Amino acid sequence: MGFMTTKKKSFDFKLLRRIFSFTAPYKGTLYLAIVLAIVLAVISPLRPFLMQRSVDVYVATKDLHGLMRLGIEILCILVVESVLRFWFTYRTNWLGQTVVNDLRNTVFKKILFQDIGYYDRTPIGTLTTRTINDIEAINDVFSEGIIAIVADILTIIAIMVVMTVTDWRLTLACLATFPLLILATWWFKEAVNKSFQRVRNAVAALNAYVQEHLTGMYIVQAFAAEKREAGKFDEINREHRDANIKGIFAYSVFFPIVEIVLACSLGLLVWYGVTRILHYQCSIGVIISFYMYLNLLFRPLRMMADKFNVLQMGIIAAERVFTVLDSDEFLTNNGTLKAEHIRGSVEFTDVRFSYKAGTPVLKGISFKLEAGKTLAVVGHTGAGKTSLISILNRLYEIEGGQILIDGHDLHDYDIYSLRSHIGIVLQDVFLFSGTIADNITLRNPDIPRANVEEVSKMLGIHEFIMRLPGGYDFDVMERGNTLSQGQRQLLSFARALLYNPRILILDEATSSVDSESEQLIQHAIDTLIKGRTSIVIAHRLSTIRKANEIIVMDHGVIIERGNHESLIEDRGAYHNLYTAVEQMKEKEVL
Ligand code: CTP
Ligand code: MG
Repeated sequence: MGFMTTKKKSFDFKLLRRIFSFTAPYKGTLYLAIVLAIVLAVISPLRPFLMQRSVDVYVATKDLHGLMRLGIEILCILVVESVLRFWFTYRTNWLGQTVVNDLRNTVFKKILFQDIGYYDRTPIGTLTTRTINDIEAINDVFSEGIIAIVADILTIIAIMVVMTVTDWRLTLACLATFPLLILATWWFKEAVNKSFQRVRNAVAALNAYVQEHLTGMYIVQAFAAEKREAGKFDEINREHRDANIKGIFAYSVFFPIVEIVLACSLGLLVWYGVTRILHYQCSIGVIISFYMYLNLLFRPLRMMADKFNVLQMGIIAAERVFTVLDSDEFLTNNGTLKAEHIRGSVEFTDVRFSYKAGTPVLKGISFKLEAGKTLAVVGHTGAGKTSLISILNRLYEIEGGQILIDGHDLHDYDIYSLRSHIGIVLQDVFLFSGTIADNITLRNPDIPRANVEEVSKMLGIHEFIMRLPGGYDFDVMERGNTLSQGQRQLLSFARALLYNPRILILDEATSSVDSESEQLIQHAIDTLIKGRTSIVIAHRLSTIRKANEIIVMDHGVIIERGNHESLIEDRGAYHNLYTAVEQMKEKEVL
């Protein structure tokens, strides 16, 4: 995961245009930044130029008054330049941050509405990197990238023009060192670019590794795999360090080289300049101003390669982010029927489904469940039970057949309305960090606490919650690690019951819980399914027995159906399952 193969490519202007399309709401700021860049470029040669005049005109003629006036002018220009530069830096960074903020919201929203199958294929670490790191890199396109580069190029051009106009021979002499500088810059750009990409890949790998191992820490420690994992981490970490050091090496070589080139230019200036002065071909003021011009010229040149890299990385990051934005695996919701008043009959006719084309998981499932009745689904692991319920609320789309609710195709319903009227309790309960109440309401502020308590009382879990420190405000740490499996399951029951759904789906957890919790869960399940259409993937005999109909699944087909008594009589697969479970129960008692 995470290793992003980044092809080196020249600037993609289409991508750049798309990045800039996000500035559309902030056009004013963008134009202001461009105008500021131009103004700053134009006034940058002004101070050296005035310096030259002060020496050549006022010092030469000993005009103290004029000198004073010129000094004040230079001071004013300095103040104006500083204020403009502040505003330029501030606004371009503001623009970058604002665009990044918008973009991150857009991407996260996109992710939220992504088809669930997308997550079976896309590693979470990758999506985290997209929403956090990659978007951050896009910020740099604004703050250090394109606008800054344009500003720098304009400044360089302005200075060179003024220099050439002032004295083109001297300019040529001073800039004789430029080929060396260009060579060094090119080498530097390549070296840093390579290390940049290595660093980024290493960061992504580090992120993914740490994230995965923190999540799976239980397994790591339970299997005493700490040393091995630490070793692997060390490897990735070392790659990160080496890549960084390569980059730092390039910087450490490049900057002194630039200093040397600048020093050479200044040397040439003094040597050739003095020669020209001695021949009365130029003035001292020109030499002084050229000294300033050269310094002004080298400052942006020094960072130019760096900025180009930043820009390029930003564009590459943008390309990745846009891939997420462009993925069209989102849910289609063309249905208009509201599910508020459904009675809750469910009918499957020859439903076929697969996660990956060519590997069928459900191969023609048909059943009819009347409103208010309970259907129990049993079968071996991997038989397709969870898949059967995942398609009922369209988490996945079916490939063939039809699913009807109250006689209407699933697609006729507004999916959000439908989903809010199908209560679901999943095999593994996922809890978010937050309070117990937050976890039951899923942070819906419209649901008053009284409703939460009422539901909990109905399910018989109010006492258990009140025993927790803080009661409903008990802080569930990440993923509910502070609660037992059974307790988590009970909370998820409350979550499902809160909306008083017409249809209830229950994927019973197989994990055995202590007898007190078991009783609680039994009671809660009875409350849950009473008076509702219920599809229960059942492991508890008591639940199965109470069902109006039982279907037995195997490898994606229904192999038996009936009620408990008739299936026992048939002495088929159900009978085998049943006796196996009975035997297990006896063992537990013994
Ligand atoms: N499967 C898949 N992609 C998923 C989920 C499941 O390819 N995102 C496959 C599994 O490999 C399995 C089949 O779909 O072969 C059926 O899975 P599932 O419906 O989850 O099986 P259950 O009957 O629910 O099994 P269990 O009792 O273990 O929960
Ligand atoms: Mg399952």
